[in-house]
Amino acid sequence: MTESTLLRTRLTDLLGIRYPIVQAGMIWVSGGKLAAAVSNAGGLGLVGAGSMRPDTFREQVRKAKRLTDRPLGVNMPLFYKYSEEWVAIALEEGVDIFFMSGGSPAKYTPMLKERGCKVVQVVGTAKHARKSEAAGCDAVVAEGFEAGGHNSPEETTTMVLVPQVVDAVSIPVIAAGGIGDGRALAASLALGASGVQVGTRFAATTESSAHQAFKEAIVSAEEGQTRLLLKKVIPVRLLLNPFARQVMEAEASGASKEDLAELLGSGRARRAIHEGNLAEGEIEVGQVSGLIRDIRPAGDVIRAMLTEYEAAVKRLPAIT
Ligand SMILES: Cc1cc2nc3c(=O)[nH]c(=O)nc-3n(C[C@H](O)[C@H](O)[C@H](O)COP(=O)(O)O)c2cc1C
Repeated sequence: MTESTLLRTRLTDLLGIRYPIVQAGMIWVSGGKLAAAVSNAGGLGLVGAGSMRPDTFREQVRKAKRLTDRPLGVNMPLFYKYSEEWVAIALEEGVDIFFMSGGSPAKYTPMLKERGCKVVQVVGTAKHARKSEAAGCDAVVAEGFEAGGHNSPEETTTMVLVPQVVDAVSIPVIAAGGIGDGRALAASLALGASGVQVGTRFAATTESSAHQAFKEAIVSAEEGQTRLLLKKVIPVRLLLNPFARQVMEAEASGASKEDLAELLGSGRARRAIHEGNLAEGEIEVGQVSGLIRDIRPAGDVIRAMLTEYEAAVKRLPAIT
C-alpha cells in the first residue's frame, strides 16, 4: 500500500474519501481526536454528538477540524434532547456530512440537503431504508444484529440485512455490525455495500476517548459474551457483566418496561465507557469484540483492513 492507494466505490466518490471505511459515531468514544485520526488515514471520521452537551460538541468538532483537513462528519442520535442544537452547531462549524440515527429521516434531511450537506441515515430494516431514500438521504447505514450499542429490535443479521437493503434502494449502502477487519470489508462489498461503518474495532484504539478499562474489556471479550438486551426499553448490545446479568434475570422473570427502565436508571453507559466501571455500567460492544485482540492506533486499523481486504479477495476461488 502506498500513499496514493485508493479503494474506490460509490461511497468514496460521494464523500470524497480514499477508502470506504467510516468510523461509527459512538457515545463516550468518538471525540475529535479519533475522528481526525480516521479521516487522516483516508477513512471518514465522525464526531459522535450522543454523549455531548452542546458546548462540548462544538469543542470536539473544532478539535477534529484543527487535526485534519480531510472530509469529516458528525453522528447524531435523534432521540436526544439536544439534536436541534447539535445540528445548528455543526452547520455553524462548517460540517457538511451528517450521519443520523434513532429518529425520522424526514426531520432534518430536507433542510440539510438544501444547504448542500450529505445526509446518511442509520437503518435496521429495508423499509426504513426506503423511507430514508424517499426523504432525500444520500446513503444509508444498514446496521445488523451483531452491532454494538443501540440496535434495531428486528434482530436481522448484517449478512441478511445488507443485501435486502441493497435491493430496496438505489442510493449507496454502508454495511455495519460485526465488521472489524478486511475480511468483513470484502464480504460487505461482495454483498453489494459501497462501504462499511466500523464501531467496536475503533472503540479499542489509542485515539478512542473511552476509558482504558473499557478498551481492555473489548480486547479480553471472548466469543458469545454479548447479548441484545433491554428490548422493551431500547434494544442495546452489551457485554455480559454483573449489570447485564441482572437485566437478563429481570427479563427472564417477565419484568415490565417500567421495571427495566428503573433498573437501567440513567448514566449507565457513561459509567462503563467513560468511567471504566465494568461491574455496574452498560458495556456497549458488538459481537466482533470476540475477534479484537489489541488496542492500536486508528490508522493502523485502517491499514490492516486494507491489507486483509486484498488477501481476502485473492483467496476467492474462480469458477473454472
Ligand atoms: C460504545 C458504542 C457507542 C455507540 N454509540 C452510538 C451513537 O451514539 N450513535 C449511533 O448512531 N450509533 C452508536 N453506536 C453504534 C455504532 O455507530 C455502529 O453502528 C456499531 O458499533 C457497528 O457495529 P460494530 O460495533 O459491530 O462495529 C455505538 C456503538 C458502540 C459500540
